[in-house]
Amino acid sequence: MSRWVEVCAEEDVPRLEGRRVVIEGSNIGIFNTEEGFFAIGDVCPHKGGPLSDGDVAATTVSCPLHARKIELRSGEVTNDSLPGVPAFPVKLEDGKVFVDAEELCVKPRMRGEAVA
Ligand code: FES
Repeated sequence: MSRWVEVCAEEDVPRLEGRRVVIEGSNIGIFNTEEGFFAIGDVCPHKGGPLSDGDVAATTVSCPLHARKIELRSGEVTNDSLPGVPAFPVKLEDGKVFVDAEELCVKPRMRGEAVA
């Protein structure tokens, strides 16, 4: 079952940028790409960098601290063997961005701690 939470307006996140939002205590990065909006845990699995401050290209973001690259569709790290970050369902309605907060319950690693 989905529980959609409004997190921002589409215009709040310029194309090829990210923004951090906090949903129920979890840091979530919202990204606006040429292929749509994506939401992932906003804590890099390397040393906790803020992924939403990274460079967005296609459907990836590069961590601003040490350049681990995260695939926004899946949350997988593409240039390291580190575990990925959770990816969350996103929908757009009437110019607003919604994230499925129900997924926060089944993906608790998104609570903001770095893995390594
Ligand atoms: S903290 Fe993200 S690559 Fe090091």
